[in-house]
Amino acid sequence: MSFAVAADAYDRFMGRYSVPLAPQLAELAGVGAGQRVLDVGCGPGALTTELVARLGADAVAAVDPSEPFVAAARERHPGVDVRRAAAEQLPFEDGAFDGALAQLVVHFMADPVAGLREMARVTREAGVVAACVWDHGGGQGPLSVFWAAAHELEPDVGDESQLPGAREGHLTELFLAAGLHDVEECALSVRVEHSTFEDWWEPYTLGVGPAGGYAAGLDQEKQAQLRERCRELLPAAPFVLTSQAWAARGLV
Ligand SMILES: C[S@@+](CC[C@H](N)C(=O)[O-])C[C@H]1O[C@@H](n2cnc3c(N)ncnc32)[C@H](O)[C@@H]1O
Repeated sequence: MSFAVAADAYDRFMGRYSVPLAPQLAELAGVGAGQRVLDVGCGPGALTTELVARLGADAVAAVDPSEPFVAAARERHPGVDVRRAAAEQLPFEDGAFDGALAQLVVHFMADPVAGLREMARVTREAGVVAACVWDHGGGQGPLSVFWAAAHELEPDVGDESQLPGAREGHLTELFLAAGLHDVEECALSVRVEHSTFEDWWEPYTLGVGPAGGYAAGLDQEKQAQLRERCRELLPAAPFVLTSQAWAARGLV
């Protein structure tokens, strides 16, 4: 499981992009005072932090199947009800929340429609389900340079471009298949500055997610080739990466 890693490694690899994405997903979902919401696939808590800031810890619950992430989310967010669970089987009653959100998770679900249907089940009638996935399909995600370089060195490498929700319109299809209505889709965008090439590259060696798992699994020589190709493809440091995610919201 590529998310059975330390929370600190996740923060350095993906948290740097998912933290600035979180306020945008919360805004799209209309998260505001008085609501009770669920963060599905919370990881160490990038979106959880935003939800707690808006609603208070008592009004937020979170789930993730990764044990180290659940432990980190509990430690970082005392008062939040953090449970170890997958989206496809949520340990909550019908209609328990005003909204259920999944940031950068749908593409990792074993059954995305079942996961979204569960999110709808635990959300009250007319409540909101919202999710976002990086635009891996359109080559606009934060890992796109890495996967482009990996492709050059190994043309049939399995990247993340074909994953559910990772191309324009696919989240909408999944939301509709899960029975949500009034579904709207849009693009979210984050800009992250990298002060040096090493600042960008080093977290790829920590084994987080499919990209990190791929990099960490290469022998030293192949990993060095990949690193140097990435260096050539990226702008000279310091550089800013602009990354796009597809986001959808629908009503129960
Ligand atoms: C890219 S991380 C996103 C974490 C966090 N939401 C964020 O924005 O930083 C993907 C997360 O999805 C979790 N995950 C994988 N499969 C899942 C499933 N079936 N249901 C819920 N979460 C899942 C992983 O454990 C991981 O924490």
